[in-house]
Amino acid sequence: MTATSADVQNEIARLRRALERHNRLYYVEDAPELPDADYDALFRQLQELETAHPELRSEDSPTQRVGAPPAGRFPPVSHTHPMLSLQNAMAEEEVFEFDARVRRILETEDPIAYLTEPKLDGIAVELVYEQGQLVVGSTRGDGATGEDVTANLRTIEAVPLTLTRASGAHPIPQRLEIRGEVIISRTGFQTLNADRDEQGQPRFANPRNAAAGSLRQLDSRMTAQRPLDLLCHGAGAIEGISVTTHAEFLDALVGWGLKTNPLNRVCESVETAITRYRDLVEARDSLPYEIDGVVLKVNELALQERLGQVSRSPRWAIAYKFKAQQAETKVRNIVPSVGRLGTVTPIAELEPVAVGGVTVRNASLHNMDEVERKDVRVGDTIIVERAGDVIPYVVRVVREKRVGRPRKFKMPSRCPVPDCGGHVVREEDEAAYRCINAACPAQLKSRIRHFAGRGALDIDGLGEKLIDQLVEKALIRDFSDLYHVTAEQLVELERMAAKSAANIVTSIERSKTPPLDRFVYGLGIRHVGEHLAGILAEEFRNMDAILNATEEDLVGVHGIGPEVAASVRRFGAERTNRQVVERLLAAGVTPRAEPAPTGVLAGKVFVLTGSLEDLPRGEAERRIKAVGGKVGSSVSKKTDYLVAGADPGSKLAKAEKLGTPILDAAGLVALLATAE
Ligand code: IVH
Repeated sequence: MTATSADVQNEIARLRRALERHNRLYYVEDAPELPDADYDALFRQLQELETAHPELRSEDSPTQRVGAPPAGRFPPVSHTHPMLSLQNAMAEEEVFEFDARVRRILETEDPIAYLTEPKLDGIAVELVYEQGQLVVGSTRGDGATGEDVTANLRTIEAVPLTLTRASGAHPIPQRLEIRGEVIISRTGFQTLNADRDEQGQPRFANPRNAAAGSLRQLDSRMTAQRPLDLLCHGAGAIEGISVTTHAEFLDALVGWGLKTNPLNRVCESVETAITRYRDLVEARDSLPYEIDGVVLKVNELALQERLGQVSRSPRWAIAYKFKAQQAETKVRNIVPSVGRLGTVTPIAELEPVAVGGVTVRNASLHNMDEVERKDVRVGDTIIVERAGDVIPYVVRVVREKRVGRPRKFKMPSRCPVPDCGGHVVREEDEAAYRCINAACPAQLKSRIRHFAGRGALDIDGLGEKLIDQLVEKALIRDFSDLYHVTAEQLVELERMAAKSAANIVTSIERSKTPPLDRFVYGLGIRHVGEHLAGILAEEFRNMDAILNATEEDLVGVHGIGPEVAASVRRFGAERTNRQVVERLLAAGVTPRAEPAPTGVLAGKVFVLTGSLEDLPRGEAERRIKAVGGKVGSSVSKKTDYLVAGADPGSKLAKAEKLGTPILDAAGLVALLATAE
């Protein structure tokens, strides 16, 4: 083997590994690291090398596949017809080359009619309808096998569960395999990322990943809360319906209650298709969702058939991609910015630059992992991109232009907000840093809203607008100040009558004896929702004990894991947080713990598994709790009883291994009878 071919071989192997990794990040983890353009460049390099060295081609190469195999969380679904990908064109010449190839294969000089569709930045899905009923919905996966996300797809309003035939519409085929794109609106995407920033979760890099992440929730109630939409763009096979063009097929779908994109157009030649592309470039920013190009599809189905496909994509379609909205500029400074819930985000202040018609002055660096991975430093020349998000982001540093050795940005250990100075900490396994001071001015409004809100102290009449005013007028600096607000102060505020002011003071007064769990929940300790607040209250029974609990004490409690334990401990260790609690108690707030349950089963932990037949699970749980027992979700050394019904699964094996007493439904009923 010559040196060159060894080099080529190494290069091909390197590119394949890199692409496999990026495929996985993109398709499986919904967390890509590379901008699409960089990914495409890598892909093309590999394609070119493989074309030049056919002896080094391989079936396993990423160029021969679509995406990555499913992540294994959902049952697999085989697509009857493979779900293909599209060839990309980056420039006009490539579209003309595509059109020339099409005409060469079809042996015609005549113009080809193309259906042009916006290329939606979403996730491809397949919906199978039998006798008009939705039977299964899946993701593309590796093109041959996708993931069964039927339950999640059913939550999307644009997905009809039953097809109905409008008057004049084509008859609905017995079996129909529809393909489309699940998308999220621009505003949906922005809200979702803002929430994720606040929760310290990594952001979605683009709407595609946000849609994918939402569609691949294990709990379909989560999917239901996301503003997803579906626009149909194709079929697995077009059988049992008499249409001759793709456009007619899409019209047929509309006649059955499915949505297609109203921006689709039939263009009689490649030139008109290119004009359409230009129009959509113009319209792009005003659309409610992101598009990243235009797909040209040969409109005649018979011609599509003749053109066929190459390994990865059809020969009858191409995606003419938009150019990225990028620009080069310099970083003037990197500053930490504190969000509504304390997340500290590094922001790059830039020399103002125009990107796609908008002047950009700041770019988000999202979190420290990003700063380090991209190695962005003050003075660096960088590429910024606007990508559907309110705040643009830094794509990469232009290293050749770095002057000297600028210092690295360090996250401050104290909160930069004036009058705060709380500790800034990073939780294990989390990208986000956050200020943990419950009285941090940047977080005050939202924390007070939470404290006064439902599930916590539930103070009637203390709405968002009022809280904003109280904080802005400096009448409230922490939770305890609420209890010093007077009716006289309230009437001074906008739109506040004497009567309502008096009512509010009364409801604040009434909130002074909250159940301990609601009080704990109201403090807004990270990771402590209503359920965990209940566990903490029940176990420790007063605020002092919670604030002083060690991590060891905390993880010893059934239902509390290391993450929650660390968070509660950290909250208790922050001096300002203890002061807030002390001031609340001094203001007369006395959280009350429920009396401890007594009886033989008090505090015993039961885990239920399998079907209990005559005893519905809800009923079993209710009766266990009524005698002071607890219901756990997994078997551990702390489990006192495993209640096993039919088909118990792995919990039974685990309980046997640990020697946990095992009961059947009748055994449970008998045991409960001794305590009831
Ligand atoms: S047609 C063989 N039409 O782009 C036909 N795809 O890169 C393939 N996409 O997997 C699909 N908008 O997720 C088609 N109007 C559109 C599209 C579209 C977005 C996505 C789709 C596909 C990927 C291919």
